[in-house]
Order: sequence, then C-alpha cells, then structure tokens
Amino acid sequence: MGRYLLAIDQGTTSSRAIVFSPQGLPVARAQQEFKQYFPQDGWVEHDGEEVWLTTLKVCREALANAGIGAEQVAAIGITNQRETTLVWDAQSGKLIHPAIVWQDRRTADYCAELKAAGHESRVSDKTGLLIDPYFSATKLRWILHTVPGARERAEKGELRFGTVDSFLLWRLTGGKSHKTDATNASRTLLFNIHEQCWDDELLKLFEIPASLLPQVEDCAADFGVCDAELLGAPIPVLGMAGDQQAALLGQACFAPGMVKSTYGTGCFMVMNTGSTPVRSQNRLLTTVGYRLNGQVTYAVEGSIFVAGAAVQWLRDGIQLISHAKDTEAMAEATGENCGVYLVPAFTGLGAPYWDPKARGAIFGLTRDTGIKEIVTAGLQSVCYQTRDLLEAMKADGSAAPSALRVDGGMVVNNWVMQFLTDILGVSVERPEVTETTALGVAYMAGLKAGIYASLDEIATQWHCQRSFQPQLAEARRDDLYAGWQDAVRRVRSDS
Ligand code: G3P
Repeated sequence: MGRYLLAIDQGTTSSRAIVFSPQGLPVARAQQEFKQYFPQDGWVEHDGEEVWLTTLKVCREALANAGIGAEQVAAIGITNQRETTLVWDAQSGKLIHPAIVWQDRRTADYCAELKAAGHESRVSDKTGLLIDPYFSATKLRWILHTVPGARERAEKGELRFGTVDSFLLWRLTGGKSHKTDATNASRTLLFNIHEQCWDDELLKLFEIPASLLPQVEDCAADFGVCDAELLGAPIPVLGMAGDQQAALLGQACFAPGMVKSTYGTGCFMVMNTGSTPVRSQNRLLTTVGYRLNGQVTYAVEGSIFVAGAAVQWLRDGIQLISHAKDTEAMAEATGENCGVYLVPAFTGLGAPYWDPKARGAIFGLTRDTGIKEIVTAGLQSVCYQTRDLLEAMKADGSAAPSALRVDGGMVVNNWVMQFLTDILGVSVERPEVTETTALGVAYMAGLKAGIYASLDEIATQWHCQRSFQPQLAEARRDDLYAGWQDAVRRVRSDS
C-alpha cells in the first residue's frame, strides 16, 4: 500500500488537491478557480458540474505533479466549503438545480418568519446554530419548493441531498456512497449535535423527507472507494471534515481552549471546547469540532462571510488592484491610521451580528483618499471582524487564547498578520504548513489508514513558522476598533 495521502479541498472559489507525505508535508498541489454566479441581490450559486470537474482535474494534476501513481496513495480525504446545498437524481446523479452557496441569502425572509414564530431557541438547542440563511436546511427547502416536481420526487425517494463533501463522494464512488461526516452534518440545521443524528422534529419543521439525507460517519471512517477509472487505481476515501473543522485538526488544536482562525473566502474562528457543547450567549455557533471513534469534540465558532473575498472584490469587483499580493506593499505605504473603514457586508453580516439584510459600505472618505487607503481598509476589515469574534468569545466567559493559530491564503500577508495581532492584543502564530484545511483531512484519512496512531502523534508535526506579537498601544488599538464598531452600526439593517 502507498503512504501518500491525497487531500481534496473543495473551497468556495477554487477546487484544490494536495498530495501529502506521511510527515504531513505537501509534496505537490493543483488548484483551479471556478465561476461564481450572482443571479440576484444576495444570491450566490455554483455550477455543481464545474465543482465536480474542477475537483477531478486537480486530483489528476496533483498526482501528476507529485510524480506518483494512484496506487501509491493510501487514502483520500475530502474537505469542503460547508453548508452549500446540492440535490441530485439518485439514479442518474444529475443535479436538479445549481448549488446554492453558503453565502446565499435568498431564504432571509423565510428565516425571519421562523424566528418570528418563535422557533429559534428550540432549533438552537438541538443544532447549536441559529436560524439563518447561511445553513443548508432552508436552502434545501427552497429547492424542493421551487424546482418543478422536486418535492414529489423527493417524497418518492428519487432524489439525494448533500453538502459538497457528499456530492463529491457520490461522484467519486460512482453513486455507491451517500455519506457525510458529523462536522458537515452539524452545519445543516437538521442534525442534532447532542444525539448525533438527523432530527425528526427539525425535518418536519423544514419539510425535508428523510430519504434525501446521507448517512453520517466519523471524520475518519470508510466512506467508500474512488472508482479506479477516475484516478487510475481504486483509492479508499477514509477522511472527511468540513473545511473549518479540518483546519482545527490541521492546526492540531486538540486541547480545550485552543483556537484557530482561517482566512479563506470568509474567516472562521473555531475554539475547541472538548467533550462539552458550550452554548454561546453572544451569537456564536456551537458545532462539532471533530468526531472520532464515535466520540465528539465540540467547538465554538465565529463565522465571518467575507475575508479573502474582500480582496477578491478589490481585484475583480472594483478592480483597484491586479494581484492580491500587491495589497501588502500598499498597506505598508498607508499605515494603520488611514481613517477609512470598509465594511464588506456584501452578503449581510455573519457572527456575531447575523444580519442578512446589511450591505457593504466605505466610510471616512476624504479628498486625499486613494486606492491604497481603500485597499488597506479592506485588509483591516478582516482583522476587525476577527476582533468582533474574539470579543464575543470573551463575553461568553472564555479566557483570551494564549495564541491564535492562523491559516488560509491571506496569512502570507505579513502586514495583515501584524495588524491582526495589534488589533487583537493576542499573539498570532503562523504554522509552517498553512494548507491546514487540506492537511487536517489528510490526517483523518491517515489515521484511518493506520499511518498515524493517534492525535498526539499528529500534534508533534505542528511547527510555528512565525509568531507575531502586538506592538500597538492599547489606547490606539481601542480607538481604531471603536471606529470599526461605529461603521458596522451604520450598515446594519436594524440601525
Ligand atoms: O462555512 C463556509 C466555509 O466552510 C467556507 O470556507 O474556505 O471557502 O472560505 P472557505
């Protein structure tokens, strides 16, 4: 049996595949961006076929780049953008609607109705989540209500639902496996995180037939076998986790109180809370951190919808920059004191505000505001939003972490990392391997394949590449943050 691990990291803006050595080092990678569809204000869709085809392509490329054959791969791990909702025909595998992406707000009015009818606290008790369009249940209900004939077909057992993990697994196994893992299930608003099962009362509330749902497994489990003709040999799929939980694993945050923050399309701060599901009083989420051998480790999560997506908007939307990497020099030239605040509430605000109807804005423009100030404000918005999450965790009674472990595409930007530590007043640690999402699920696949004996063994592979320490005076930090809070107040739909 081979000893390499192939991690699929199907994210919001690109599909990636990375081949890892047993030592947890990336050997080769491949990545492909795909098209984002914005059919209406607040709607975000993906072409599920493109998600699948780009995933398959990058898997093949990563193996070719590594110079290895599929028979040298011990196992595949799948990690993915979470909550994004797909429905397909159980026989043909054909999707009945484009994927409705986690950022999509089309069910905001329905969510408001459910809240007004008093359902939120019961739903939160069971799922650890809030009623918000972010999660899968209302998106799935929308598809069943809107696509002609879908509800009837679902009731006859002819359709399957999945988040991206299940959909990719279905395609990789030629329709043989309809499974998910407990972390992805915990983001659907249909899964009872205490009993670890789909919840009948929630299925009834959201009008979801149970036959649509995948079987829920641990993060390290037998998910099925990838068809030999796809990659050249039949590779078992042995790991699965939603991308933020996978990053928690890749950052080796295995002890209660350890926190990681991932800067991808969005930003997600996740704190391990051990075997206890801690209920936030400050609108953070309680979620499954990971599940191994049936044992659940819970986590508290703060979810921000726009982080790297703000830089993408600066590049592709208003085209102020040509390359994301240009932002570092621009921010250095501007300094932290630019007086401009950019609130990137393009698809509403996530934690801790949960305001789907808020929209973005730029404040503090003067005659001498130029491109670099707006770009700097975009970078700063990511750090201010992280501080919002940290404040909510502290208000819930958690001690400030001794260090925040960071990962994701944006963490290569040293200016952002320094501003982050300054605005948080907490040291920020960047690991040697910043592909922690892919690494985390490679670890899960490796655990099941017997390459690793335990989480303790995995933890020894985590190494800090650079630690950033706060340098900004406390009063200055608080002033800057107060300006951000004021800007957020002004974009909120209820202000
Ligand atoms: O909950 C959404 C999250 O899983 C998306 O992650 O990496 O695509 O920003 P990312």
